[in-house]
Amino acid sequence: MDPFRSKLAAALVKGVEFPPVRPGSAILYLGAASGTTATHVADAVGREATVFAVEKSLRPFQQLLSVAQRYPNLIPLLEDARSPQRYSPWVPRVDLICMDIPQGDQAGILEANLSWFARPGTWVLLAVKLASLPRREGATARWEDVSPEFSRRMEVEDVTPLDPFHRKHVFVRGRVRGGGGGIPPITSRGGNRAG
Ligand SMILES: C[S@@+](CC[C@H](N)C(=O)[O-])C[C@H]1O[C@@H](n2cnc3c(N)ncnc32)[C@H](O)[C@@H]1O
Repeated sequence: MDPFRSKLAAALVKGVEFPPVRPGSAILYLGAASGTTATHVADAVGREATVFAVEKSLRPFQQLLSVAQRYPNLIPLLEDARSPQRYSPWVPRVDLICMDIPQGDQAGILEANLSWFARPGTWVLLAVKLASLPRREGATARWEDVSPEFSRRMEVEDVTPLDPFHRKHVFVRGRVRGGGGGIPPITSRGGNRAG
């Protein structure tokens, strides 16, 4: 993994711990692009776990589709992460959500996906490009200013600046509130509901 190409790799190099993901787990990856990092996640979690990789742009998706042929546990979805209801028939409640979508409404996109696919204890790994987030004219982009938007439903465990690998990015590791101890593997694939 190249920390200059992958924000997750940069985070790991900087000491962020990858959440404990067990065989049978489900992972939702939002903003998979051509799969550079999503394939690393698919490797890291093992063939017993499934990674649902959402990408909305056709060009990177074509590459994602191609690499997914070598990863039976990677399911590419050509979808807009702003419309989770569209892919809800295929994605169960998940153990981990990874997100790398540098958009001004990133917090809202996360919230929508948490509503459909998270449950208490779901882990969240976010790459946040601070400069992409709304801020006052001329103000410096700081995590502290946007943190409440991201923290409505999750407990933020750590926030790690990704420089020198990715300037003005932070990597956020959190967990959806209400979780207990371990994360049981998901056994049922159907029946997603908002809430
Ligand atoms: C920084 S790139 C992701 C890089 C990737 N995570 C990696 O490490 O290989 C961001 C990706 O998010 C995608 N994206 C942006 N908005 C999106 C949306 N609303 N839904 C799904 N994907 C989106 C972009 O098309 C782009 O491919």
